Amino acid sequence: MKYGILGIGQAGLRHFNAFNSIKNVKLLGFTEFDLKKAKNFEKKYNVKHFKKLEDLIKLNPDFVIIALPHSYRLEPIKVCCKNNINLLIEKPLVLNTQELKIINKYISKKNLIHSISFVHRYRKEVLNAKKIIDNKKIGKVKFILETMISQKNDNLPNWIDNKKISGGGVLLYNAIHSIDKICFIADSKIDYVFAHKANINEKIDVEDVINISLKFKNGILANLIATFLPYFTTPKWETKIFGSSGQIDINIRKGFELISKNKIKKFDYSKYYKKNGLNYCFNIQAKSFIKSLNTKKPPLVNLHDGINSVKIVEAIYNSIRKNKILKINY
Ligand SMILES: NC(=O)c1ccc[n+]([C@@H]2O[C@H](COP(=O)([O-])OP(=O)(O)OC[C@H]3O[C@@H](n4cnc5c(N)ncnc54)[C@H](O)[C@@H]3O)[C@@H](O)[C@H]2O)c1
Repeated sequence: MKYGILGIGQAGLRHFNAFNSIKNVKLLGFTEFDLKKAKNFEKKYNVKHFKKLEDLIKLNPDFVIIALPHSYRLEPIKVCCKNNINLLIEKPLVLNTQELKIINKYISKKNLIHSISFVHRYRKEVLNAKKIIDNKKIGKVKFILETMISQKNDNLPNWIDNKKISGGGVLLYNAIHSIDKICFIADSKIDYVFAHKANINEKIDVEDVINISLKFKNGILANLIATFLPYFTTPKWETKIFGSSGQIDINIRKGFELISKNKIKKFDYSKYYKKNGLNYCFNIQAKSFIKSLNTKKPPLVNLHDGINSVKIVEAIYNSIRKNKILKINY
């Protein structure tokens, strides 16, 4: 299987490392704006740099990975879909519902497989906790509490603070992953949202704190708090799932605990992460995507998950602007 990558920044490199570890999957070429970066990558891995996507497409890739900054998605999605190329698109699928309308006619081709890189679904702790929840080990899920505390460190790209390119702050760069994960666990669509935002760093025009209440169509409630701090912090990313007869506490990149029948059962994945690295979910995602292309079966994260998340994000920003509880129109 042959593929191309658009943008070899942080995410693009993670995808490359993941797909590179799969037998018979070959990177044909890549596009990259930053010529110095492109030259280094080209030399190191002996892979061709293309200035134009159209020239890369002439080599007939089976799929293309879009790992560009958020506002540069429309043209490559159009071009790839017109050329019948499957896509793995970094989150968010696009910036808003206006952009969704533009890509809709291209992306909805039935014969193509498109996935969105909600890569945290592929974490061992998330997949295994989900299995336990689906087996009703904590009864009926009632409430989910998600806390995501992270630092905006110097290795992150500058464009994330530029609203024209990023479309938003902590919600679009980080918390959108949490929203996808909560939807996956709740196994339902979000019905209503109510949100607030704040800025700890007042010098930027995108939010770095977000506080969101969610109500799902199946009655589950969820609360999500995410911060993207301009100073050193002790990062934390946990999901507490409260059911009618027990609780699961997921500690991302560490493991999870099952609390039921007055007992705590610990699932410690520190050895797994030590052996495979903290970004191993990219490898699991890559394998799953290739399997989906080979079997023509829908991927774990499908196009509708990407489309719904754009609608949810837009409703959250509208809720903040209007200071109102909003129903999501799917
Ligand atoms: N799934 C995850 O865990 C995860 C992690 C990090 C980033 N991301 C996502 O990946 C995407 C990229 O983010 P990043 O952090 O890697 O950013 P980045 O800035 O590190 O990488 C983007 C790269 O694209 C290049 N580029 C920009 N415009 C281009 C164009 N028109 N053609 C070709 N190359 C171009 C840039 O020079 C840069 O090297 C974003 O959607 C981001 O939200 C996802």
